[in-house]
Amino acid sequence: MAAPLKILQYPHKALREPTHQVTDFNDALRQHVQQMLSLMYEDQAVGLASTQVGLTYRLFVVDVSPQQNQPECFINPEIIESCGTKLYEEGCASFPGLYAKVLRADTITVQYYDEFGEKKTQKANGLAANCIQHELDHVNGILFIDRLSKLKKMMMLKKYEKLNRVTDE
Ligand code: NI
Repeated sequence: MAAPLKILQYPHKALREPTHQVTDFNDALRQHVQQMLSLMYEDQAVGLASTQVGLTYRLFVVDVSPQQNQPECFINPEIIESCGTKLYEEGCASFPGLYAKVLRADTITVQYYDEFGEKKTQKANGLAANCIQHELDHVNGILFIDRLSKLKKMMMLKKYEKLNRVTDE
């Protein structure tokens, strides 16, 4: 049984850790996927990326369904097409209490593998597209506040410090 995972909060350095491609689609990987889904649902989040739980795979999980009963797992994800732009209000499990409008592509096509190593392609728009881009950023060590203007980012971090007692680990 894999060691229990937990959601790490900014400014934990794991959030900026480089990630690597998954090459072995084994039981340990699938256990991590299950644990990440449980944590995501517990947190009532719509997505959770490996770096947020201290893992270094290129992997994230998502569920944007209204009933939160359609778990999806994206491994070695790559956006192969994107079009349009849209401002979406985003939050992040690693930034409790913080929300900001982020400009992202409106429609995307993402190529990825599922937890059994099967290659898949999905076209997404709206919340799903937004969520996938947010989570893929995490896998690349990019946080949603990095997508804001310098001034806005500074203001958000000040607000975050007020909301949460930030400790550097
Ligand atoms: Ni996030």
